Amino acid sequence: MRLIVSMGRGGTGKTSFVALMTKYFIEIGRTPLLLIDADPDQNLADALGISLEDAGIKTVSELIVETFMVSGGTTVGIPPSERMESKIWEKGLYEGENFDLIAIGPKWVEGCYCLPNEALKGALERLTKNYTYIIIDSPAGLEHLNRRITSKVNDIFDLIDPSKKSFDHVLRAYRIAREVDIKFENFYVVGGFRFPNGLNSEVEGKLNLKYLGKIAFDENVEKFIISGKSLLEIQHDSPAYKSVREIMTRAGYG
Ligand SMILES: Nc1ncnc2c1ncn2[C@@H]1O[C@H](COP(=O)(O)OP(=O)(O)O)[C@@H](O)[C@H]1O
Ligand SMILES: [Mg+2]
Repeated sequence: MRLIVSMGRGGTGKTSFVALMTKYFIEIGRTPLLLIDADPDQNLADALGISLEDAGIKTVSELIVETFMVSGGTTVGIPPSERMESKIWEKGLYEGENFDLIAIGPKWVEGCYCLPNEALKGALERLTKNYTYIIIDSPAGLEHLNRRITSKVNDIFDLIDPSKKSFDHVLRAYRIAREVDIKFENFYVVGGFRFPNGLNSEVEGKLNLKYLGKIAFDENVEKFIISGKSLLEIQHDSPAYKSVREIMTRAGYG
């Protein structure tokens, strides 16, 4: 079991990256996969051509409210994380042929609601044991990941855009990952589709982090997203998909 996180600022291409990574893992037979959409924007399902609403799947945020905010009565005595886990199995897990998907949804409440956070973490810890790889689509900043989802990951892929702030962002993300005490094996930098070519040595020199290359700009990705078509069906020789295969190979997923 390996846990992979795709993170970066909005619009850098995280979700498309996760979708194409999923396609790659299916192709090389690393299933079953669990995808966790931890971005409140929630567009991972869309990128895979799935409607969670039509499938009757609830977000974890909704299930948290059902489980902990609305009184339940009959569940006294069952530990919170077990209650959460069975709720997710029952109502929060989209089950596909090669992958399952959970959407965290918007923040359920502001502030420290330690019980639901801990319950979710405990539930996910057990649930994830059933999968080969778990891929998390995460917004920038890993604080919430640590608080609600997991404190231990294998690989972090941080997508960067060409903005001046981007380098600072990566350094900040790296610092936060260490400060909040997330255990990780690898912290990789990936150039998003807007990132210029040929900046490999600059990235590695400035950041002292491993740069895996950039995701090619690919009008097919745009077309698929706009029409709601699953990125799993993109052509094998599509430039973005080709670069994702190369990036994953460089990260040791050959
Ligand atoms: N490789 C790519 N080439 C061209 N456009 C892309 C590519 N990846 C993503 N996009 C476009 O950028 C938009 C944002 O991508 P998305 O993956 O949703 O980013 P994020 O999850 O980081 O917000 C998408 O709607 C898509 O049209
Ligand atoms: Mg996204």
